[in-house]
Amino acid sequence: MSVAATTARANVNLALVKYWGKRDPALNLPATGSISITLGGLSVETDVEFGGPGPDRLEIEGQPASGEEASRIAGFLDLVRREAGVEAGAHVATRATVPRGIGLASSAATFAALALAATRAAGLRLSQPALSVLARRGSGSAARSVFGGFVEWHRGERPDGSDSLAEPLAPPDHWDLRVVVAVTDAAPKAVSSRAGMARAASSPLYPAWVEGVDADLAEARAAIRARDLEALGLVAEHSALKMHAVGLGARPPLLYWRGTTIECMHRVWALRQEGTRAFLSIDAGPQVKVLCAPGDAPRVADTLGAVPGVQRVLTCALGGGVELVG
Ligand code: PMV
Repeated sequence: MSVAATTARANVNLALVKYWGKRDPALNLPATGSISITLGGLSVETDVEFGGPGPDRLEIEGQPASGEEASRIAGFLDLVRREAGVEAGAHVATRATVPRGIGLASSAATFAALALAATRAAGLRLSQPALSVLARRGSGSAARSVFGGFVEWHRGERPDGSDSLAEPLAPPDHWDLRVVVAVTDAAPKAVSSRAGMARAASSPLYPAWVEGVDADLAEARAAIRARDLEALGLVAEHSALKMHAVGLGARPPLLYWRGTTIECMHRVWALRQEGTRAFLSIDAGPQVKVLCAPGDAPRVADTLGAVPGVQRVLTCALGGGVELVG
């Protein structure tokens, strides 16, 4: 891509209180708020350049984007074009600086990076809150990857979504934590989070899930403020397990876990029994993510790495928000 392209980089984030369900699928408006930490080192970089009148040219890891992935990016570019009064086609190239194909190069980082790169390339300078609102349109969780450290995404009340945006709760250096990720299966996920959330609404457990989130958010906020790992870890684990329980009650049922996922969960609980403060979280896939203190990360990584079926283990600290590169 030419030197005139604008490049931005954003990190993935891990929700400690999950977003799982929408009040408006078209605008990606969530049924509840959520709280996440932004993870350093797992990022996506995006170049954007608006050029001639032709169609958009979209590349992911050097390959032309196709299908659902391409239409989501093109739809997002249309939002930016409308806001900027630009009609030109765009050339977009995205690269994950995470190992590929392990189910972690989440759409959160992609759309947070795209929101910044595309708006700047189109001549717009959005505030961070406005960037969060825009990133949300690409992928809900992208609203949170605009910011670093500890982040809350507010549900918002307005039908147009203008108040459904993330804001930082605390910067990365507020509290040094680690997330150890056990990759249990690198196959592309069978059910996207979008499809999973749509199915969740058929579960009789869904109303209870929605009803419980405000209490989880309050607990997580207080734990972050107090740097209380036990309290934060327990509520994060509770939120993740309730989210997956909703799927079990859906019709048709939805289960993202594999056998290795469950074995990792038992090992985390065994570590806790032995006195290590380690707490698990699982997203719309089979990988297990474990929150712990920096000093315990090597033991957690060794324990998970020894579980048969675990393909690799990554350890991340907290990271910053979206930024321009170069
Ligand atoms: O932003 P989406 O549509 O990819 O959904 C993210 C859903 C979870 O990762 C499972 C939970 C969350 O809050 O990030």
